[in-house]
Amino acid sequence: MAPVGVLPATGGPTKDFGGRITSSVVVTCVVAASSGLIFGYDIGISGGVTTMEPFLKKFFPSVLRQAGAAETNIYCQYDSQLLTAFTSSLYIAGLVASLVASRVTAALGRKNTMVLGGLTFFAGGAINGGAVNVAMLILGRILLGLGVGFTNQAAPLYLSEVAPAKWRGAFNTGFQFFIGIGVVASNFLNFFLSKHPWGWRLSLGLAVVPAAIMTLGAALISDTPSSLVERGRLRDAKQSLIRIRGAGADVEGELDDLVRSVGAAKAADREPFVTILERRHRPQLVMAVAIPFFQQVTGINIIAFYAPVLFQSIGFGKDSALISSTILGVVNLGAILVSTAVVDRYGRRFLFVAGGLQMLVCKLAVAAVLVAGTGASGTEHISKELAVAVLILLCTYGAGFGWSWGPLSWLIPSEIFPIKIRTTGQGISQAVNFATTFALSQSFLAMLCHLKYGAFLFYAGWIATMTLFVMLFLPETKGIPLDSMQGIWEQHWYWRRFVSTTVSA
Ligand code: BGC
Repeated sequence: MAPVGVLPATGGPTKDFGGRITSSVVVTCVVAASSGLIFGYDIGISGGVTTMEPFLKKFFPSVLRQAGAAETNIYCQYDSQLLTAFTSSLYIAGLVASLVASRVTAALGRKNTMVLGGLTFFAGGAINGGAVNVAMLILGRILLGLGVGFTNQAAPLYLSEVAPAKWRGAFNTGFQFFIGIGVVASNFLNFFLSKHPWGWRLSLGLAVVPAAIMTLGAALISDTPSSLVERGRLRDAKQSLIRIRGAGADVEGELDDLVRSVGAAKAADREPFVTILERRHRPQLVMAVAIPFFQQVTGINIIAFYAPVLFQSIGFGKDSALISSTILGVVNLGAILVSTAVVDRYGRRFLFVAGGLQMLVCKLAVAAVLVAGTGASGTEHISKELAVAVLILLCTYGAGFGWSWGPLSWLIPSEIFPIKIRTTGQGISQAVNFATTFALSQSFLAMLCHLKYGAFLFYAGWIATMTLFVMLFLPETKGIPLDSMQGIWEQHWYWRRFVSTTVSA
């Protein structure tokens, strides 16, 4: 690692000022992490709503007719491009918003970006709740997408910048935890509202509730010291530091360090989207693209969006399908807490690899059970016992995701970039997340229909690849102050050739 306190190049404190866990830093981070609620709510709600009969009847009647056709192959029941377009439109909007948000977050700060995201999401939820045609549905979803594009960009950065370095991993997992709460809450809602003819309207419209909660919260917290210094608000930065670090902390030292490193970053002012392409930032750029891409090709959203559809397709009744996806959500939530507890002790790499192997085994086993249960063509009806086996395997898979690729995919991109390109890196990472989610959700039902159980083997292949990638290319970031991070690349067997030790900002 680079000598502590010697790298003025990259913005943020260059040495660990030993920040303690104060009640203020905890409250602030919990509030910031609650931004994850809106993303989670959306993920959970769309899967359930798209199986509600009144919803399909009103907006997508052809899907209902298709699902009703008795002898349809179990893998093909819900294969409709229009329905997938509804789910996916959010991701295109999120992708655009992420790239724009990188500038907004640098110019307005992390906190204001979260507020902006919350308000936009609120508007989207209201429009969706009142939708009378597909156009309104899609417009609402675009606003939801813009909203999560902003908050997903700003909140993880907020957490990583405010948390004491030693506990950064734990604090950052809070974001994924709130995503998980959003998922579970919306699954519950879907379950209770699914029978009501207006249930879909309430499910979609109640998105305004998590939006209101997180927007209000974000409006009440102060911005991160790094962001305030970046925007020339030194006095506010000092206040913010005093509040979060507590009495007795070396606030002056940390502030001086921040000012020095932000100054150095500004002196080398260039277009951040150009700077990030420079060779010396290649390791971070590769991670910003690879990590969210890999997170998505674990196949998690396929499970989340389509768990109810999937369980219905493989022979569970309507209610048991929703109950199963709720179980899946709760297991995932518990697993995230495990990650919170150990991520700063055992490190990121350990969790990535352990979780990856766990997911890999489960995916292979699901494919095997599906073949055993429905025949290679998928035309036989799966037995209840085997359907339960699928559920257990998917829960184990969900737990693996919950302590590895779930939270860590928000953490890594938010902690590896120097301040001058931090929001840009996070923006790219988010854009990749949305683009991949879009591509996968657009193609999954068709893939399930054509590849059948092979869809699970497809994801198993990716999980094996990403686990190997982490083992070879991701250095450990645990406990390292944000701007001593340069050292991890300098010492890495592969990345060191890209990063010259003599180069500063
Ligand atoms: C992912 C989402 C996913 C969610 C599941 C997040 O980290 O980015 O795509 O739906 O976890 O809980």
